[in-house]
Formats: sequence, C-alpha cells, structure tokens
Amino acid sequence: MADFAGREIPPPPEKRLRRDDAAFGTHGIQTDPLPVSRLPCGALRWPRMIHRLHDAMNKPARGSLLGIEHLGDKEILSLLKLARSMNPQKARPLLRNKRIALLFYEASTRTRTSFEMAAKSLGAITTLVQSSGSSIEKGESLLDTGYTLRAVGADAIVIRHPAAGAPHLMARHLDIPIINAGDGMHEHPSQALLDAYTILKHKKTFKGLQVAIIGDIFHSRVTRSNCHLLARFGAKITLCGPPEFVPEVSATLVPGIRVTRRIEDAVRGADVIMLLRLQKERLAGQKISLQDYVARYQMTPVRLKLAKKDAIVMHPGPIIRGLELTAEVADGPQSVIEDEVRNGVPTRMAILARALGKAK
Ligand code: CP
Repeated sequence: MADFAGREIPPPPEKRLRRDDAAFGTHGIQTDPLPVSRLPCGALRWPRMIHRLHDAMNKPARGSLLGIEHLGDKEILSLLKLARSMNPQKARPLLRNKRIALLFYEASTRTRTSFEMAAKSLGAITTLVQSSGSSIEKGESLLDTGYTLRAVGADAIVIRHPAAGAPHLMARHLDIPIINAGDGMHEHPSQALLDAYTILKHKKTFKGLQVAIIGDIFHSRVTRSNCHLLARFGAKITLCGPPEFVPEVSATLVPGIRVTRRIEDAVRGADVIMLLRLQKERLAGQKISLQDYVARYQMTPVRLKLAKKDAIVMHPGPIIRGLELTAEVADGPQSVIEDEVRNGVPTRMAILARALGKAK
C-alpha cells in the first residue's frame, strides 16, 4: 500500500504487535508506574522500564531522537556543534517541502513553539495535533494516530506524551523519524541538549563542573536526560530535595551522583544550579508541606551567594515565582532561564535537520 506521495505505508501491525499494543493500555502505551528493581547487592535501583522496551524494539528510523541515555557521545557533540551553526533569524531552507507533525498529548509552551519555530526557520511545513480537539478524544490509539499522520504525509513526528515509552513504541512501528518531546517521567532529550548548549555558552567545558539540581527529581524527565548527558562528559552532579522527591535510589541514576537533603550543601561551590518546577499537587499526602518546602528548598539571593560568583541559574520552565525560586533570582544577573528558552530554537533546528538527513 502507498500514500499519495507514492511512499509505502507500513502494513497493519501483526497479531503479535496488536497484543503488545493491548498490553500497553488503551492508547498503546505503558500506563503503569516505572518498576523499581534491585541491584545484586540488594539496594534499590532507579526505575528503568525503557531497557526492556529498547531491547525488544525494531530499529527506530534513522534520525529519531528518543532519549539521551542511548545516544552516543559523538552524536551529542555533533548535535551541539550543528546547533551552534543554526541561526533562527536567518532562514535556511534545509527542510523545504518537508512536513513535520507536532503531536502533543500534554500541555507545552516552550517545547512546542520552539519546535514549530525551528521547523519553519528551516522551511518545513508543520501541523499541530493535540489530544483535545483531535480524534484522540474519540479513542484513537497512539499507533493509529501515528499511522494517520504518516498517511497524510508527515516526514517526521515530534511527540510529547504523559506515559514513558510512548515515542519508543511509535518508533518501533513507523518508518519515519520520531522525536521525543518529553515522555512521562522518562526523558526530555531536546531539553537536555538545549541545556548543554546553554551551559557551553557560559562555561568552557562540562568536565569538573559542579552541577546542583534541586527539586522534584523523581518525577523529572528533564533531570534524567540532563544527568545522562552531563555525567557522561565529566560534570559532578548533586541532587537535592526531600526524600519524597529525591529518594536514596536517585543516587543510582548515573554513576557518581551525590544526594543531599540540605540546599546549602548542594549550592556551595556550584557552577550550575538547575531548579525544577514544584507541582503543588505532588505534595498532597506527603510529610513535607508547601511552607516547609519553600522554607527549606526555595532558591533565594542569600542561598545563591553560596555558589561560585559566576554560577548560572537554570530552570526548564515554566517557573513559579515564590515557590522554587524568588523573583529576584529568576530575574537576577545569574539567571539564564530566558536564554535557555531562546536556545531551544537553534537546538531544535539541529535536531530536525539531523532527523531529516539535512545535517550540513
Ligand atoms: N521545558 C519544557 O518542556 O517546557 P514546556 O512544557 O512549556 O514545553
């Protein structure tokens, strides 16, 4: 079977794959929490569902970006180099006549608009599909939505989904590049790449950099992707927060991570401070109250003074002033939060150019 452009449409999934689809819930994705396993010594290991999926999956289409964990060092460095050569103000028609579907099952401002701006800066056509107002509301599964986008001519799909593994499942079944724009509590690879791009604008190297990540680590896909990237290139990472958000098992996320409960210990001597959004609803039923959290973990000008003089303050956004940071810190001279958002465009231009084989 071929689409209107004469390209072959993948055959309907075989029975075996249908069974996989069913096992992944109504939308064709894993809806259970990531299982926590044990290391041979008996200690808990950071949840890693994706290893099983990764082993089992068909090879994703060339150019797919599913996560940082399985991306090679060379690929990361070449994406960062390519991002540096991209200028969103100067349109480059590298992707003229290419069609990119933005499939968002979750709310987004930064990721969605910067992928769209990036695609348009490169001359591509984009279309946005959100769960609200599309046939997803009528019960269409993740894979059927993917086949539909492919059939109407999408050359690549950028997907954000609340469940870990959704982009991986799609990449297993579709023959076009799939780009993970955030999957549940798993990974947010384009955020880690734009964060790395931002850090390298301010610091010479990742090697030996003291990076403090503060907040709700357990639920943070941004933290996972950033830890995989930064630790790989020699940064020293400290995770900080209460046990509810930073369980001891967090130390197994990547080798060499330090965990502390005291924000002062995390910030002292840091080169980079990454703050995470506090989702108030996550505090429901926890021992720590909102007031306690703010008192113990909010980034204030006084606490920031403990970091190196030239330390930078980062946040993937959206920021909540008065919760995880004060307005003085958010708008202060050390904050690069707005710059991170800006850097999302050239970084995503590089990701899209690579996805569609135009990485020149
Ligand atoms: N950083 C980030 O993913 O922001 P959005 O949710 O606004 O895309």
